[in-house]
Amino acid sequence: MDINLTNIGMFKGQQYETIISTANSDGSLNAAPIGILCRGKDKVMCRIFKGSHTLENIISQKEFIVNITQNPELFTWSLLDNLEMNDFNEDKSIKNVDCYFKCEVTSIKEAVKQSDPIKSKGEANVIKADVVELVINNPAKAYNRAFSYVIECLANFSRIDIVDDEKRKYYLDSFKEAYRVVKKVGSKKDKEAMDKIKSKLNEKGYDI
Ligand SMILES: Cc1cc2nc3c(=O)[nH]c(=O)nc-3n(C[C@H](O)[C@H](O)[C@H](O)COP(=O)(O)O)c2cc1C
Repeated sequence: MDINLTNIGMFKGQQYETIISTANSDGSLNAAPIGILCRGKDKVMCRIFKGSHTLENIISQKEFIVNITQNPELFTWSLLDNLEMNDFNEDKSIKNVDCYFKCEVTSIKEAVKQSDPIKSKGEANVIKADVVELVINNPAKAYNRAFSYVIECLANFSRIDIVDDEKRKYYLDSFKEAYRVVKKVGSKKDKEAMDKIKSKLNEKGYDI
């Protein structure tokens, strides 16, 4: 079957929040939330900071599984603890996810990005990979953060004239961060929505 990531709501140029599972050198399995940029119908890219098990495993194995889920517990457990061995299937995918795909690495490059909101300059590797197998268990849609940010910014915008100065400052600072993220991960419509909110804030006299 032809692999096509649009079947799980992934479109070129947008980034989705996923959980990557990989094999550790001792044979145990590891899961971590990682953003995946869609580069085409069967091509993806991710940028992973040095020091993570996921990066180490991808460098040594040259393959990884991308699990698609909107279950908040799986994201939370895989970040704060790790999943347990019996949370994984034999093929290294996570049990009960809506969908998953297997990736084979085509390139790994060093990357330093100045605009990251982290201390000093983050050292990361950019990994490009081909999707070689796509398994859809349930009708699935990969999660993109942009729409949630748009809704959050609209909710804050609707209250900005009736809150105190401290809260207003918080809303404006939050908007700046949301704007940065949506420009990075969102669709054309998400980006247009953020520009519209920005121009309305500017009209109100806020220098965003
Ligand atoms: C939603 C979400 C997305 C994330 N995306 C990335 C990412 O794209 N790159 C990265 O290096 N870390 C990302 N992280 C942070 C890693 O999940 C985190 O560093 C994790 O502890 C790595 O675990 P590991 O050592 O088991 O690989 C993300 C975290 C969350 C919650």
